[in-house]
Amino acid sequence: MAGGSSPRAPRRRSRRSKARTPACFWPSFLMRRKSEGFWLDMVMNSKGCGDVSGPEVEVFETADGSKTLVDVERGVHYRSRHGAVQESRHVFVEGSGLIARAGTWRVLELGFGAAVNLVETVRAFRESDEAKRLVYHTVDWRPVGPEALAFHEGEGGALAREVAAKATKRSGEAVRALSEDGHVEVVLHAMAWDEVRLGEGEEVDAVYHDPFAKEVNPEAWTPACFAWSRSWAAPHARLATYSAATAVRQAMEEAGWKVWRAKGPGRKREMTVATLQDESVEPPGLKRWGQG
Ligand SMILES: C[S@@+](CC[C@H](N)C(=O)[O-])C[C@H]1O[C@@H](n2cnc3c(N)ncnc32)[C@H](O)[C@@H]1O
Repeated sequence: MAGGSSPRAPRRRSRRSKARTPACFWPSFLMRRKSEGFWLDMVMNSKGCGDVSGPEVEVFETADGSKTLVDVERGVHYRSRHGAVQESRHVFVEGSGLIARAGTWRVLELGFGAAVNLVETVRAFRESDEAKRLVYHTVDWRPVGPEALAFHEGEGGALAREVAAKATKRSGEAVRALSEDGHVEVVLHAMAWDEVRLGEGEEVDAVYHDPFAKEVNPEAWTPACFAWSRSWAAPHARLATYSAATAVRQAMEEAGWKVWRAKGPGRKREMTVATLQDESVEPPGLKRWGQG
């Protein structure tokens, strides 16, 4: 959630894995530029000048035994400390309605982060008898390096590391990875959300709205940001987010989304789902927000 109790609001660090996983391990020459409140480190290494390092991160084991990352500088967790995989599956893979879809799954995610959502979406796609193709657009202005994602196993992990490696060479661009059978395509847009344009006919079925909490990423919870994701969404699309904050829901409504309350993951009371079509019957598990 975007409020002070968010699992991703800055907190004291704890339960970190002993193995420190710096996002970039080459000697660095720091040319710092202030960018939207962050310092970007330009790294010079043996492969030449121009690679862009990600944030300094460490692997963190969450309460369900699954892992995520913690941003060392700011002390923020990339997924809930109460269960990274649990949150990812409940809020995003299931909450967006993607898991019930047949045919092609098209996703737009704001926040590639530790790639837990990507890995869990690839897993759900491979487990589905009805899904035929997955196109996963993910956006991150500060993607972590591939070595920070070594904790992920399987196909999703390999695809995540491939796009992360390409993004360290080509910051500000969209980089791609394709599964061996060609059924899964991952596109990492290594830039701020407001610079991202999808291709012609690339309307998505699901929006994963997953930046850090409002205290850390205020620009990602504005009506402008929700209008941006709306502009790439198919009429039947659903947006899902862990936040249940009133200000966030108001921003979604202002951008033209219809807002629904849904049960949160684990012991969390609520999360938010948004749709574009008026649904005559309440979808199972959802209650319309702001209507009495
Ligand atoms: C909570 S993490 C994402 C977690 C990820 N989805 C996962 O499953 O591991 C939030 C990410 O959003 C990115 N982000 C925040 N604001 C952004 C913006 N304005 N444009 C692009 N990326 C942004 C951050 O760099 C960070 O990596």
